[in-house]
Amino acid sequence: MSVTFSFPGKHVFIFGGTSGINLGIGRCFATAGANVAVASRSQEKVDAAVAELSDLGSESRGYALDVRDVDAVKAALKEYASETGGIDILISGAAGNFPAFAKDLSPNGFKAVVDIDLMGTFHVLHSAFEYLNKPGATVINISAPQAFLAMPMQSHVCAAKAGVDMLTRTLALEWGHLGIRVNSIAPGPIANTEGMRRLAPTEKIMELTKRSVPLQRLGEVGDIGNAAMFLASDAGAYVSGVVLPVDGGWSVAGASAAALAMAQNQR
Ligand code: NAP
Ligand code: COA
Repeated sequence: MSVTFSFPGKHVFIFGGTSGINLGIGRCFATAGANVAVASRSQEKVDAAVAELSDLGSESRGYALDVRDVDAVKAALKEYASETGGIDILISGAAGNFPAFAKDLSPNGFKAVVDIDLMGTFHVLHSAFEYLNKPGATVINISAPQAFLAMPMQSHVCAAKAGVDMLTRTLALEWGHLGIRVNSIAPGPIANTEGMRRLAPTEKIMELTKRSVPLQRLGEVGDIGNAAMFLASDAGAYVSGVVLPVDGGWSVAGASAAALAMAQNQR
């Protein structure tokens, strides 16, 4: 059975949408007829993503900015909304990660990840609120299993993503009466991504991770794109305030085991 999603003319804005999982989500929406805007720090990555999405038929826009800079986030959203009329689907996925034991992590290292993932998500949602098309807009935050599973060398990410998921739940409460749905997706280990290159830096760890997934494979960026399209579509019309793991069962079975093995390997 195949499911086809369609978002003709919808306006999608993806923060952190210039590579990896988030760009994969952008490709899915562009292919389904949406106009996809992206923002991230590197002008080069922004330009490349806009070109790729435009080739898929999307009327795309790009903004080079750091989500830690709330004024830059506000300015981009204001410009975007004045040109397009508003946002139908908002995705907050900018993130930073590196493996480090808490005792070796400087306060500034911890802060860097919390500032990008958690403060960045607040900046994006807070600034976008006035431009979300109501009723009907939907917000998707890109979380991680670290939000609900403790993992060694991930104290900064665990703390930041747990905060992201509580923002998801709280804003689903606050914005529900306006017809805005707010959800998180928690991707499992996704092949060919910067996140996995950092957390599983050797073939051995990658293989171990793969074997720890009940479905016995790493995810594909398209798996996350499909989940995002479901949440944003009418099929997800009664879904709000959830954290949806898209991880082949990893979070119920193998994540802790894989992360511990990874830590032992690097200790
Ligand atoms: P990625 O390719 O590095 O994606 C991160 C994106 O965020 C890039 O577009 C990056 O572009 C942007 N970004 C980083 N810092 C930023 C900042 N301060 N301001 C604005 N943009 C910023 O990594 P990925 O592995 O695909 O991860 C994407 C998302 O999935 C993240 O939220 C991550 O936590 C989540 N996730 C990934 C996995 C996985 O297996 N990879 C698993 C669970 C969750 P610039 O460098 O141009 O800023
Ligand atoms: N181990 C321990 N500490 C580290 C580290 C590592 N591998 N990498 C960075 N840090 C620390 C730095 O030492 C610094 O702390 P200090 O001032 O006390 O020395 C702090 O983190 C900030 O580093 P900086 O390089 O200035 O941050 P940045 O804002 O330029 O970059 C990062 C942010 C560190 C998160 C960077 O890895 C990044 O840009 N990541 C985006 C891509 C990514 O992580 N993708 C995967 C998403 S899952």
